[in-house]
Amino acid sequence: MLHHFYQDLRYAKPVDRPFVACNMVTSLDGKVTADGTQPASLGSPFDRRTMGVIRSHFDAVLAGGNTIRLHPYYLGVPSHLEPLRENKGLASQPLTVLLTRSGNLDASSSVFTKAPRPPIILTTAEGAKHLPLAIHEQAHVEIMGNPDPHSIVALLSEKYGVQSLLLEGGPSVNYQFMEAMLLDELFLTLHPSLIGKRTDLGLSVGDHVLTSPETIQLLSVHQQDNELFLRYLITW
Ligand SMILES: NC(=O)c1ccc[n+]([C@@H]2O[C@H](COP(=O)([O-])OP(=O)(O)OC[C@H]3O[C@@H](n4cnc5c(N)ncnc54)[C@H](OP(=O)(O)O)[C@@H]3O)[C@@H](O)[C@H]2O)c1
Repeated sequence: MLHHFYQDLRYAKPVDRPFVACNMVTSLDGKVTADGTQPASLGSPFDRRTMGVIRSHFDAVLAGGNTIRLHPYYLGVPSHLEPLRENKGLASQPLTVLLTRSGNLDASSSVFTKAPRPPIILTTAEGAKHLPLAIHEQAHVEIMGNPDPHSIVALLSEKYGVQSLLLEGGPSVNYQFMEAMLLDELFLTLHPSLIGKRTDLGLSVGDHVLTSPETIQLLSVHQQDNELFLRYLITW
């Protein structure tokens, strides 16, 4: 494999909690969905390869219920990146962590049936009741009183030894971590497309204007054809 600019990524881990980053692709007009979903055209094959390289540096990768219902695949790395992880002392595949309140997940989707490690489902007591029995058997279901970002990283750290967590959306999950000031880095792919539709979503979607971070520092910029790969360090 050719050397990828994110292959030797290093980051400063906070002392008292896991390091949290987010990776998303947006159109030039700032949308992460097109007509309600993220089509394959939003992000090139190189961007999808980059997703794997970024995942290769994290203990766990997290996605919200809507994202996983639309893209029901394990949030893992291709097998050629497993040695890279093992050399860094990480498990060969990251843990997949899914957030759901409804418990509306499909046990027959490949995120469960082809999982290299049992996914972790973070939900409420009500959500757990609605999860199919097969998911209780195939995954670790964690019932939380209030699955807010601080409780999520605390649980993942204490129970599963997660020291680095990668968020892969969607926008409502991203918003909650930004609102909780629990985002250390943002990996952003700027894809040369225009979406325009009012109802399509931006990178974070919530009810309030977010607190401005103390600083947002652009750590690196890479160009690959007409896409830009930006990496930001966020300090709150
Ligand atoms: N361009 C990109 O890089 C990118 C990346 C990822 C996703 N996307 C797109 O983003 C869209 C989905 O985004 P979204 O904002 O609508 O949804 P989302 O963030 O993927 O998922 C929201 C859902 O996650 C669960 N959830 C969120 N916070 C929770 C919490 N604190 N506790 C328990 N469960 C929680 C709930 O699931 P339940 O409904 O099951 O209760 C909630 O409805 C999709 O179209 C996807 O394709 C784009």
